[in-house]
Amino acid sequence: MQELIFDNNVASCLDRCIGVMAPQGVFVIADTNTNDLVVNRMRAESQRIAQAPAIVINSGDVNKNLESLSYVWEQLGALGASRHSLVVNVGGGMVTDLGGFAAATFKRGVPFINIPTTLLGAVDAAVGGKTGINFNGLKNEIGAFAPACAVIISTTFFPTLPEAELLSGYAEMLKHGLLAGRKECDELMRYNIADNDQSHLLKLLEESVRIKVDIVEKDPHERGLRKALNLGHTVGHAFEALALSREQPVLHGYAVAWGLVIELILSHLQLGFSSAELQRLASYVLQNYGAFHITCHDYPELLRLMRHDKKNLNPDTVNFTLLRKVGDPVLNSTATDDDIKTALDLYRDLFHI
Ligand SMILES: NC(=O)c1ccc[n+]([C@@H]2O[C@H](COP(=O)([O-])OP(=O)(O)OC[C@H]3O[C@@H](n4cnc5c(N)ncnc54)[C@H](O)[C@@H]3O)[C@@H](O)[C@H]2O)c1
Ligand SMILES: [Zn+2]
Repeated sequence: MQELIFDNNVASCLDRCIGVMAPQGVFVIADTNTNDLVVNRMRAESQRIAQAPAIVINSGDVNKNLESLSYVWEQLGALGASRHSLVVNVGGGMVTDLGGFAAATFKRGVPFINIPTTLLGAVDAAVGGKTGINFNGLKNEIGAFAPACAVIISTTFFPTLPEAELLSGYAEMLKHGLLAGRKECDELMRYNIADNDQSHLLKLLEESVRIKVDIVEKDPHERGLRKALNLGHTVGHAFEALALSREQPVLHGYAVAWGLVIELILSHLQLGFSSAELQRLASYVLQNYGAFHITCHDYPELLRLMRHDKKNLNPDTVNFTLLRKVGDPVLNSTATDDDIKTALDLYRDLFHI
């Protein structure tokens, strides 16, 4: 069971956790950015990690690879880590995914604590037990379900994050809100990211993480209910891949935000999802995330990408998680090519493209 701590006094929470666990040695894993921006600051505040060695990997998802993983294993070995040690992952999803997997596999498993430093990491990657690396050109191809002993979630490291990274994480919060209910969605749409109100955001973040955790606890290995968390992602992944092929990559959460709109259009067409709710989300997304430009010439490639999504089991149809209404997901929904093309047409109308 993963202990979740929501607190902006990260160093004292970490010291308390380490005090209770009493490990033989603490090893920090960070990337080049989080080592400079976060670890150095935490060393001044936390007695327990003031002297702990840091294993620093290059930042960016391209480095969530076997080479970085092997470097972390090597360093853990060279520094004398054992199964009674503790790994502390300090970073965004890239660090918690790779560091978590490194810890879970080194000497058959070293306990680890995650300290997410991005909003996407805090609301999604650091929580829920999925760890891994990209391999053979495929995202998250190698990995394990391995929950952190504790995740210390705060908003204290966000001021150095570019606003686009914050918005990217916020899209996953919107997804959780849509899965949970009207009240949660309203709260999220009322909050203004640009305000940078740390304690308000921490409260919203806590509610959002609880929504994910509730789902994950009921289905830790993604056999059913956990698929609800794919809302917005079938189309989102296709947009992400299309953007990459145009050599104009977009942040994951932006693709998810546009994917949510298109999947709610499909929900409206198939399940009678309210058009007022759909319009509200579409204008929120347009205002905050802008539009992803597509023409009807992109449709065949988008359909191909959706059919080949790794979560799609039957290549003849496309699987979606849709919503009957806010808070009421319908798993294992499918859509025909014509439905998807209609939804893409309606998206272009709504986004004036
Ligand atoms: N395990 C899961 O369930 C899960 C869920 C969602 C995403 N993910 C994974 O998470 C990764 C994406 O996570 P991410 O968006 O956090 O990316 P990331 O970890 O690559 O961080 C984005 C960038 O921000 C920098 N950064 C981190 N914290 C910072 C801070 N406080 N101030 C300034 N810069 C900072 C990083 O160095 C990096 O350059 C992907 O690899 C994705 O596959 C995993
Ligand atoms: Zn996502």
